[in-house]
Amino acid sequence: MNILITAGPTREYLDPVRFLSNRSTGKMGFAVAQAAVERGHPVTLVAGPVSLPTPPGVTRVDVVSAREMLAAIERCLPQCDALVMSAAVADWRPAQEAGAKLKKRAMSPLLQLVPNPDILQTLAPLKGRRVFVGFAAETGDPIEEAQRKLIDKGLDLIVANDVTVPGAGFAVDTNAVTLISAAPLGQVGSPKQPSLPPQVLPLQSKLDVGRVIVQWIEARCASLKG
Ligand code: CTP
Repeated sequence: MNILITAGPTREYLDPVRFLSNRSTGKMGFAVAQAAVERGHPVTLVAGPVSLPTPPGVTRVDVVSAREMLAAIERCLPQCDALVMSAAVADWRPAQEAGAKLKKRAMSPLLQLVPNPDILQTLAPLKGRRVFVGFAAETGDPIEEAQRKLIDKGLDLIVANDVTVPGAGFAVDTNAVTLISAAPLGQVGSPKQPSLPPQVLPLQSKLDVGRVIVQWIEARCASLKG
């Protein structure tokens, strides 16, 4: 299986020295990439700006902004069987990016923003028989929001976590996630129950979470083909 994985934040520049971004360090996506290579899958990792070494055997494509990430995925997707969107994509970018540093006295205290493309929603029409996995990092109980995102973004699986739980979330090597799967083909969910019951995983290393996700993808790919 060719697996395409995204990781890290995106940066949306206001000028050459200032940007909008978020706290993602890329650890979860890099762990999924390592787990997928361990299982013998060819992996392409589209990474936002992070300071992590590339896992051996992974083909890495570095990007900065959400629009660059979308373009990189569009190039790679045709050769891929599965997409894992663990990147924390910035939803907004400054309406204008200045070519030179903006001077404080010339700046407005109000920043005008424009929406970035939602990468998963943009790619949904190209999904076909590919497996699409998303993440939902929330503050507080993530289940309801994750179920909404699973449906809105047309995903097979969403990996939900509460980033306020100790040992889960940003910049740590462990995570506590809940897997929420869309009802598989042939077992069509009702409009009220489109996803299977959430599967709560214990706190464990991000690499072990990555291994669970890769095994889930293998099983879903096999059921889609079989
Ligand atoms: N995502 C995406 N494109 C975006 C934003 C998010 O493809 N512009 C993907 C993320 O990679 C993740 C999933 O969508 O797999 C959920 O991301 P999240 O930031 O939790 O959701 P949003 O749709 O941005 O919703 P909100 O900010 O309201 O929580």
